[in-house]
Amino acid sequence: MKFMETKIRKIDKNQIDQEIIEEAGTLLKEGKLVAFPTETVYGLGADALKEEAARKTYEAKGRPSDNPLIVHIADYEDLKKIAVNIPAETDILAAHFWPGPLTMIFEKSELVPYGTTGGLDTVAVRMPVDPIAQALIRAAGGFVSAPSANTSGRPSPTTAQHVAEDLSGKIDMILDGGTVDIGLESTILDMTVTPPMILRPGAITAEMFEEVIGPVSVDETLLGDESEKAPKAPGMKYRHYAPKAKLMIVEGDLREEILAIRQLAYAAHRENRKVGIIATNETLPFYNYGIVKNIGTRENEKTIAHGLYRVLREFDEEDVEEIYSESFAAQGIGKAIMNRLEKAAGHLRIPASAVIKKQKYRTVTFVSNTDSARGPMAAELLRQYELKQEYVVNSRGIVVLFPEPANQKAEAIMKSAQMTLEKHTSRQFDSDSIQEDTLVLAIDEAQKEKVLAEYGDNGNIYTLNEFTEDDTEIPDPYGKPLAAYGECYEVLRRLVAKLADKLDSLAEEER
Ligand code: TXA
Ligand code: MG
Repeated sequence: MKFMETKIRKIDKNQIDQEIIEEAGTLLKEGKLVAFPTETVYGLGADALKEEAARKTYEAKGRPSDNPLIVHIADYEDLKKIAVNIPAETDILAAHFWPGPLTMIFEKSELVPYGTTGGLDTVAVRMPVDPIAQALIRAAGGFVSAPSANTSGRPSPTTAQHVAEDLSGKIDMILDGGTVDIGLESTILDMTVTPPMILRPGAITAEMFEEVIGPVSVDETLLGDESEKAPKAPGMKYRHYAPKAKLMIVEGDLREEILAIRQLAYAAHRENRKVGIIATNETLPFYNYGIVKNIGTRENEKTIAHGLYRVLREFDEEDVEEIYSESFAAQGIGKAIMNRLEKAAGHLRIPASAVIKKQKYRTVTFVSNTDSARGPMAAELLRQYELKQEYVVNSRGIVVLFPEPANQKAEAIMKSAQMTLEKHTSRQFDSDSIQEDTLVLAIDEAQKEKVLAEYGDNGNIYTLNEFTEDDTEIPDPYGKPLAAYGECYEVLRRLVAKLADKLDSLAEEER
């Protein structure tokens, strides 16, 4: 293919520059290719009524030519020019969802060339709501075919930069209207069957259709990976949206998913393998290993839809071998999210419960009096070890009146050993500090007694000496000179080394 210069024109949808639109419309009329924003994803526009323009579209995308294009219109009356035998429900569906992220399939008219429909007698039609798209369609003569403006097999583009990454040098122009609103492709509804059938889930959901026209059906090949049949929308059969790394969707309740992914990422870290994690705002803090990307917030599934393709593209830039993704509720737009994610994963789903390894202790909590010196020092010492299993390491105090930073002398000693308690804030021991999988290690007998008296014995409460079978007393440096903190540090260092060995031998026994 010839290299061509791709013009990039910035355009503001709230204040459309008509000159740029005219320039782009003229290119389309000449049979050339112009990428443009829509509310779903960026589209690669061409004149839908020219056979030759469709051929160029397939070539630029590297897309199989049996995969039909969607024809975009800006005025409802134009539908009648390209579709025939339009069923009665179309008016009411259009009244509710057009312009918007809905594509409907009809029998095609003579006007539409087979190049555009991939040889089919049906045509897919969409009326986008994005004002730039609408202006461009009108300037181009009313009928613009547009697949997503990505190279075939790459995630659909949600920014003009994504389009440029894939198609620079292969198309004539990109209209840069900023980031799209939705981030997933339109819902496709086949109007040639009764009741109409969803061929691709999107922002307009089955429930939304049902409120307007009653029940719709769903292409059974969308429902799971078991189906052997070919999907009804030819494009759905390709392994689209495939990231370079192997993507795995971890499924379970959210707590299990986090735990499973943490264990996978920790194991990869110990084996020096680079892995990625698709996490959410809410779960981000739980991951300490791997390259972690925030896809959006679980409080608003739309943000997740919006972040999906961006995150997949970002991972293509990182040389990670595997990507682990949390899963998302398959309700509302969640159906479309899971559909795209599963396609990206080549339907590779793993139950969290099959990944989670038995681990007696997942948390180690040191307990001292005020959680300002010995406890935090022991915790930080333990964090230095790369143990066979991953632990959350905490410290808590028996009498913490208000949160305070670590004791300054303790910090000075830690600093001289290339560690720091900078991030530490003292916290009171409470019922959350004593879960079933928490190993509670008191610095002195006195704190152990307090915990036992208040919470009872669950079998996981020890003094550090007791657990490491070492009777060296841990001196209390409180109120003493720096040297006393230094002596205390030395004792802790020895005991924590023994603790690390003991935890690793417990891990060995659990294997
Ligand atoms: O949101 C969207 O729909 C975006 C923007 C640019 O409008 N476009 C888009 O186009 O996603 P594309 O080409 O990436 O996906 C079109 C899908 C393919 O799966 C294709 O097989 C299906 O629509 N399709 C098109 N015409 C069809 C037809 N006549 N019958 C069945 N499926 C059809
Ligand atoms: Mg596409």
